[in-house]
Amino acid sequence: MTTLWSGRFDAAPHAATFEWGSSFSFDRRLFEDDVTGSLAWAKALASAGVLARDEAVAIQRALSDILASGRADPSFVNGEDEDVHSFVERLLVAELGDTGKRLHTGRSRNEQVSLDLRLYLRRRIPALQQRVARVIAVLTSQARTAADALMPAYTHFRPAQPVLIAHFLLAHAAPLRRDHGRLALAWSEADALTLGSGAVAGTSYSVDLEALARDLGFTRIVPNSIDASSDRDFAATFLYACALTMVHLSRLAEDLIVLSGDEHRFFELSDALSTGSSMMPQKKNPDPLELVRGKTGRAIGGLMALLTIMKGLPSGYNKDLQEDKHAVFDAEDTLTGCATVTEAVVAGLSINRERAAAAASGLLLATDVADYLVGRGVPFRRAHEIVGALVRKLVADGREFGSLTPAEWQAASELFEADIIDRVTPAASVSSKRTSQSTAPSAVRAAIAESEQWLARIAG
Ligand code: ARG
Repeated sequence: MTTLWSGRFDAAPHAATFEWGSSFSFDRRLFEDDVTGSLAWAKALASAGVLARDEAVAIQRALSDILASGRADPSFVNGEDEDVHSFVERLLVAELGDTGKRLHTGRSRNEQVSLDLRLYLRRRIPALQQRVARVIAVLTSQARTAADALMPAYTHFRPAQPVLIAHFLLAHAAPLRRDHGRLALAWSEADALTLGSGAVAGTSYSVDLEALARDLGFTRIVPNSIDASSDRDFAATFLYACALTMVHLSRLAEDLIVLSGDEHRFFELSDALSTGSSMMPQKKNPDPLELVRGKTGRAIGGLMALLTIMKGLPSGYNKDLQEDKHAVFDAEDTLTGCATVTEAVVAGLSINRERAAAAASGLLLATDVADYLVGRGVPFRRAHEIVGALVRKLVADGREFGSLTPAEWQAASELFEADIIDRVTPAASVSSKRTSQSTAPSAVRAAIAESEQWLARIAG
C-alpha cells in the first residue's frame, strides 16, 4: 500500500494499525464533496498559474469522471486507502500520472477535510430541516383536525388546566420551529472557505480565494489558517442543533407514550406503528416512540464526544479530529430516522375526544372559579383561599364543582351567582383566555394558520 506520505519512511505501515487508523470506511460519505473541492482547487491553481490550462482541463475531466463513477455506483468508492482524499488522489494519478500528482500543490488534507465536512453539511442540512418541517406539518394538520377538542394540560404531571388538544400539539411544533432555525445557524457557521490555509501556515501560491469561495458557494473565508486547521465549532454547532432537536422529539415521544397509554387514552396510536408482545396477548406497545426517546442519547453523546475531543487539542490539526465524522454522520442518521418515524406516528394518531375532554373537567377548573371571584372584586389571594377551601371539601366528599348546589356555592361566597355553573366548564375556561400565546380557541386558530403559512413559505 502506498500512502500520500510514504516517501518519508523506510518501512511500510504496520498493516493492522494502518487499517485501524484509516477513515475511508466512514469518510467515503464525503466523496462527492471531496471531488467538488478538488475541481474548484484545480481551477484556482490554473488561474494562479500553478497548473497549465491543459493540465487543469485534464484534471477536471478526470475528476468529473471519478465523480460520475462514484455517483453511478457507490461501491466504486472503495479501497484500502487511508481516507477519501487519498482515494480520489490515487484514482486521479492512476488516470493522469504526473499531471494528477500536481493537484495537491499548496493544499493540505487538514484544510481539505474541513472543507469537505463544511460542503457536506451545507448539502445535507436542508434535507434535515425538511424532515423537521414535516413533523411540524403533521402536528399542524392534526391540530387543525382536533379543532376545539379539549384535554388537560399538566404541570408537575398533575392535571392543571383545560387546553385545546390543538394547543398541546402546537406546543410540540414550537420547539421544532426553533430547531429548524438552529439548523440554519449551523449551516451558516459551516459557510466559510478553508482552502488557502495549507497545513497550518497558509499557502505560498497566489490563489484567488474570493473566486474560489464564490465557485464553491461560500460567502466567507476563514480568518486564520492555524485556527482553520482545527476549528470544528461548526460541527459542534451542528451536533448541538441535532441533539436539541432529538431532545424535542424525545419529549413528544414521551408525551404520546403516556397519553396513549391505558390510563389516559387521549390518543390512539395506529396499529401499524405499534408492536405486540411475544407473551402478553393484550399488549400494544409504542416501540417506535420508545426508540426515538432512546436514540436521543446517541445524539447527545455525539455532541459530548466532539466537545471532549476539542477541549484538549493543541493548536493546529491533530488526528483526534478524524473522530468528528463519526459524531456528525451518526447524528444526521439518527435525526433523519427519528424525524421520519415521528412524522408517521403523529400522522397516524387518532384523538379520543370524549376521553380527553372528560379528563379536562373537574377540579382543574379551580383557577377559573377563583377568576370568577376576582371578576367580582375579590383580591386574587383571597379568592385562592376561598376556592382552596371549597376544593378541600369537594376532595373529601369525592365530588366536583358541577355537583355543588346554589346554596353550597353561596356558602362558599355570596358572590357566586347562578351563572357560575356556565363559567366552570372546560370550554368556558379555554375561551376565557385572552393572550396570543394562550389556548383561547381564536388564538389557537391563528397559531395554526401561522404555522401553515410558515410551512408554505419554507416549501417555497
Ligand atoms: N482522515 C483525516 C481526518 O479525517 C484527514 C486529514 C488527515 N490529515 C493528516 N495530516 N493526517 O481528519
